[in-house]
Amino acid sequence: MKKVLSGIQPSGKLTLGNYIGAMKNFVKLQNDYACNFMVVDLHAITVPQEPAALREQSEAVAALFIAAGIDPDKANVYMQSHVPPHAELGWILTTLTSMGELERMTQFKDKAAGKDSVGAGLFVYPSLMAADILVYNADLVPVGEDQKQHLELTRDLAGRFNHRYGEYFTIPEPYIPEVGARIMSLDDASKKMSKSNPNPGSYIALLDTPDEIRKKISRATTDSGREVRFDPAEKPEISNLMSIFAECSGMSIAEIQNKYEGQMYGGFKKDLAEAVVSVIEPLQKRYYEIRESGELHDILQRGAEKATETASRTLSDVKERMGFLLPK
Ligand code: AMP
Ligand code: TRP
Repeated sequence: MKKVLSGIQPSGKLTLGNYIGAMKNFVKLQNDYACNFMVVDLHAITVPQEPAALREQSEAVAALFIAAGIDPDKANVYMQSHVPPHAELGWILTTLTSMGELERMTQFKDKAAGKDSVGAGLFVYPSLMAADILVYNADLVPVGEDQKQHLELTRDLAGRFNHRYGEYFTIPEPYIPEVGARIMSLDDASKKMSKSNPNPGSYIALLDTPDEIRKKISRATTDSGREVRFDPAEKPEISNLMSIFAECSGMSIAEIQNKYEGQMYGGFKKDLAEAVVSVIEPLQKRYYEIRESGELHDILQRGAEKATETASRTLSDVKERMGFLLPK
């Protein structure tokens, strides 16, 4: 069976962008692939985290995975830090990565921009992500558009290792949805919707109440003119809202365009808000049930145990190939 791996950072609240760009596809893939879905806490600490907040967010993201529909009997759900081979292979791959490659990463450039001091962890972040993927020899990696460059680096590192030490790693493929790979901010469609945006009106958090969601959508920036038409170059704001609508309603972009032809933005936005609420409300209900049930810790433990089996095997194969003296 082919293998899938992906991860989401427990830093701040998850947004509708995370759901549409990543989680929704996790749920889809779990039926046909052997899946590992992690909360990547080791990645989250590449920027400062307050300990209590990190703990809370870690639990919240794990619970959101399950609430979104990931079935822990089909897919392993766990914390990255509970599977030590990630960090160890991360270090090994860092030694195979060049400074130039890391300097070219746009996510690093964005996150480092304007800072006086930038943590070294933020710089080597992509090598750890490569380790996450390669430690299971994953075939497919469902992510949003912004992770494409990290995936390219992962493929290069796998090829480099194979070239130096003999064919071993599978070269992974990204799985990036056609619609929804880049959900944009509600206040500015030139920026991606992000949990780190200081303006909460710019994103829909998965745990926003239905009324907050309705309010945010009614205030979302719209383009001048009045037609509901999909045209990302001329009408970026409306096109973004139409992508969200398509993802939350199951309607195609063309169907949405036909339905709202000749109408103004108001009715479209109202229906959009209800479509988003109809996805988020049941998800939240499951979320609160899971958090109250106390079953999360068992799920995470089981997931980590199964993941560790495979990951440890890869790590010792890698060490053996590289010439490490192995313990008895
Ligand atoms: P992060 O929140 O950076 O850990 O991202 C987790 C996953 O969600 C990654 O696969 C991202 O590519 C995806 N993602 C984050 N924000 C968006 C967005 N605005 N649109 C689509 N996908 C996103
Ligand atoms: N870098 C990813 C992000 O910011 C999160 C991540 C870490 C990841 N390890 C991964 C995604 C492995 C896919 C596979 O969104």
